[in-house]
Amino acid sequence: MKWSNSANRPNIRSADSRAKRQTDNEQASPPQSGLAFCCGMFGEGRRRLQPSITHRVTNSTAQIMKKKILLQLDGDKHASVFDAVVAADTGVERLLQYGNVTVDDVEPLVHGCIFTRGLADLASTAIFVGGSDVQHGELLTERVVRTFFGPMRVSVMMDANGANTTAAAAVLSAEKHVSWSDTTLVVLAGTGPVGQRVARLTAAAGARVLIGSRNQDRADQACQQIRSRVEGAQVESIVTSGVDLKQTIAEADALIACGAAGICLAEAADWQDSAKLRVAVDLNAVPPLGIDGIDVMHKAEMKGNVACYGAIGVGGLKMKIHKRALEQLFESNNAVLDAEQILEIGKLLTS
Ligand SMILES: NC(=O)c1ccc[n+]([C@@H]2O[C@H](COP(=O)([O-])OP(=O)(O)OC[C@H]3O[C@@H](n4cnc5c(N)ncnc54)[C@H](OP(=O)(O)O)[C@@H]3O)[C@@H](O)[C@H]2O)c1
Repeated sequence: MKWSNSANRPNIRSADSRAKRQTDNEQASPPQSGLAFCCGMFGEGRRRLQPSITHRVTNSTAQIMKKKILLQLDGDKHASVFDAVVAADTGVERLLQYGNVTVDDVEPLVHGCIFTRGLADLASTAIFVGGSDVQHGELLTERVVRTFFGPMRVSVMMDANGANTTAAAAVLSAEKHVSWSDTTLVVLAGTGPVGQRVARLTAAAGARVLIGSRNQDRADQACQQIRSRVEGAQVESIVTSGVDLKQTIAEADALIACGAAGICLAEAADWQDSAKLRVAVDLNAVPPLGIDGIDVMHKAEMKGNVACYGAIGVGGLKMKIHKRALEQLFESNNAVLDAEQILEIGKLLTS
């Protein structure tokens, strides 16, 4: 099987104009409702006109298993190879990769997914939104979902920069050692895409979450965003640079470091003597690591009373969640997998 790469990847503009041409053809065809068109040549309208021929066509198509097609929408110049490999390993049979995707590109690309197969086969097409810019990925996802109408939809998963799957894996690893409803969690660098999701998921589970940043305004903004999504969220902003971090961490039962790659956020002395801390997770895999004293491979490694996880220690679960979420896309045509839904998938895997 040949996978699309940068050399043979469909050009967005020509794909858009094809999609546009297809839309024009729809409009030029004899009066049919949108839904009748969507059911295409296998729909009710055609059946009434040519019952015997359509009956044969319907029978033969029923025997053909529709290929699993994944549309990969990515804001980066080159759609993520990582995401493509995971898709291949998960049984996706045809991957349509688009890079440099803007919000304006989305509608015709989604039309290509929803107007081609009969309703019963829509579950064999799905959309994955990736890219390194998580905010852009959110906008693309929002536009994807806004393009759907009635039953004309396919399942979609948003995991730009791995933010949702990574956050879910971190939260599930930590919750083996604490119960969120009576836990104070410190999220170091809680302003980035992964940190914000860790904070949102744990706040929704009832934790008191202290969101750290080098900058008070960014921490406040992250808190505000979570409060607007999670009713009753107990989130507080903390500035973590130029302060005695040991004192802050002493309040915490759990610590999750979500800092940029290659940045150390906490020294060993900041956390190793804590009487309260039960679990510490570092998601930075690039030396210097995010929490001094935690190795990238640690997976529930005990240091005193603290269960320690490093980025690769969490990475195995992250990959399982990513793969299971992709499989789930092809089980229905109406799943929208964002952080919360991806966390639920992880819970089923770890229960
Ligand atoms: N294992 C995996 O599969 C996987 C997948 C995705 C991500 N990751 C890792 O997870 C971590 C978080 O990812 P992300 O995309 O959310 O990270 P990010 O956006 O690159 O950075 C997160 C936060 O780090 C802080 N930061 C940036 N530069 C800093 C510096 N020089 N000194 C101190 N703090 C700094 C910033 O917070 P403030 O400016 O507010 O202080 C920023 O919001 C990264 O280490 C990433 O590599 C792992």
